[in-house]
Amino acid sequence: IHNVEFPHYSEASIAVANEIANLIKEKDKKGEYCVLGLATGSSPIKVYEELVRLHKEEGLSFKHVVTFNLDEYYPMDKKNLQSYNHFMQEHLFAHIDIKDENIHIPNGELAYEDIHDFCLNYEEKIASFGGLDLQLLGIGRTGHIGFNEPGSHFNSGTRIITLDHITRVDASDSFLGIDNVPRRAITMGIATVRKAKRIILLAWGQHKAEIVKETIEGEISSEVPATYLQSHENTTFILDYEAGSQLT
Ligand code: F6R
Repeated sequence: IHNVEFPHYSEASIAVANEIANLIKEKDKKGEYCVLGLATGSSPIKVYEELVRLHKEEGLSFKHVVTFNLDEYYPMDKKNLQSYNHFMQEHLFAHIDIKDENIHIPNGELAYEDIHDFCLNYEEKIASFGGLDLQLLGIGRTGHIGFNEPGSHFNSGTRIITLDHITRVDASDSFLGIDNVPRRAITMGIATVRKAKRIILLAWGQHKAEIVKETIEGEISSEVPATYLQSHENTTFILDYEAGSQLT
């Protein structure tokens, strides 16, 4: 893992948005689709805001962009304000020229018995577009990437998982109480993420400092699934000074 620190998350986010924009333009010039893996949560919000600005003010087009989101709560209605479907519309998709059919987000509305096939199909779809060109990640205090909680296997693919208690506590504010936070989610796996050609992980704030240190300096272990990124050859952690403050 290579890490780059910025004084403040807003400058960091603009740098990340520019890398994504350049990749979209490069691939477009070659007549190729740009395949992006996207995250929700607080970390990427400013990146999406800047991508929207680049679209509105500088003509960046998403007509040849295909997206796959990391995860969605289960069960979860797409129209629910807490759904990751809603989050992506609000922060990105409603403001750019991406085609609806190029947007993919795990479906929290499925019947339980349909989840397995949906997950296999999600993997196949990513592969059918030639794999993820760039995967954007946040990191949870448990060391999760996507919702790959402690115990996740190195070879895991898209699947349904049980959320860690700490993850549910961290989500409880936005759900107005922990009892309203779903117990499960559908997430891309560690192997799904690691197949991406380029990975950018965002972490801001003091509350991420400890897990960032464990992830970069600790031993590779399923107890901290993000450590599996150590053996990916093209991963950059983009940090603000606070998130990087415990690194030696
Ligand atoms: C979201 C996701 C999660 C978050 C992580 C950090 O799609 O997969 O792994 O990236 O929980 O969340 P924030 O950015 O809210 O601190």
